[in-house]
Amino acid sequence: MKGVILAGGNGTRLRPLTDITNKCALPVYDRPMIHYSMEAMAASGVNDVLVITGGSAAGQMIHLLGNGSQFGLRRVYFAVQEKAGGIAHGLQLAEEFAADEPVFLALGDNLFFGNGMAASVSQFSQDPRGARIFLSAVPDPQRFGVAVVRGERVVSLEEKPGNPKSNLAVTGFYLYDSSVFDRIRTLEPSARGELEVTDLNRTYMVEGRLNYSMLDGDWVDAGTFESLHAASAMARRFATRSVSARKAA
Ligand code: G1P
Repeated sequence: MKGVILAGGNGTRLRPLTDITNKCALPVYDRPMIHYSMEAMAASGVNDVLVITGGSAAGQMIHLLGNGSQFGLRRVYFAVQEKAGGIAHGLQLAEEFAADEPVFLALGDNLFFGNGMAASVSQFSQDPRGARIFLSAVPDPQRFGVAVVRGERVVSLEEKPGNPKSNLAVTGFYLYDSSVFDRIRTLEPSARGELEVTDLNRTYMVEGRLNYSMLDGDWVDAGTFESLHAASAMARRFATRSVSARKAA
């Protein structure tokens, strides 16, 4: 299983914080945002991670992440996405790196504090067929990709719908089998000119090959001022909880 973290994008909703700093380098409580994704990768049993950034941020990222050993990773690789062409466009840059292995994709601005993700990743890596997304029930689904599920399958996916059919947000963590890169080649740019991850996931869904896990814990997409603030509060709560659990043990 190979890990891919997307740390590109312009972070326009966070200006002026992102004028000279990549969104994923912004502070979330006591660490740069991207550290959380690196830790999620390591905790999920992934050894090799490719970090995809925009050109102007590449230097910062190398500085922040080094060779990955501080996170317990075997190696970190870097790739540059020249323009913001969408999540699926960014993922395409990982094709050679993935080398026919399944891929765990994490969006660098998504933070998760909870349980069960590592188990889903490890299960998928043992039997990598189709794709798996991670869902979380939210009060404001219109901000996200929205899924409808039946049994173990996802049966409807819409990107930021005006009238969401459910309250299940598609979070920024995705597991793909090695057919993902051929599928990206079939995608057409959306109205905003990007290759959308929701369209990519739909290629699996229509074949009945898109499964899901419900996230068990706190999740946040730290792409706005409010959610960035919430991410820091969440990270702080989680850090305090972990310290008291360690003390109690
Ligand atoms: C992206 C995806 C969306 C997903 C979200 C999770 O949206 O397009 O489907 O729900 O990430 O954070 P973005 O935040 O890039 O607008």
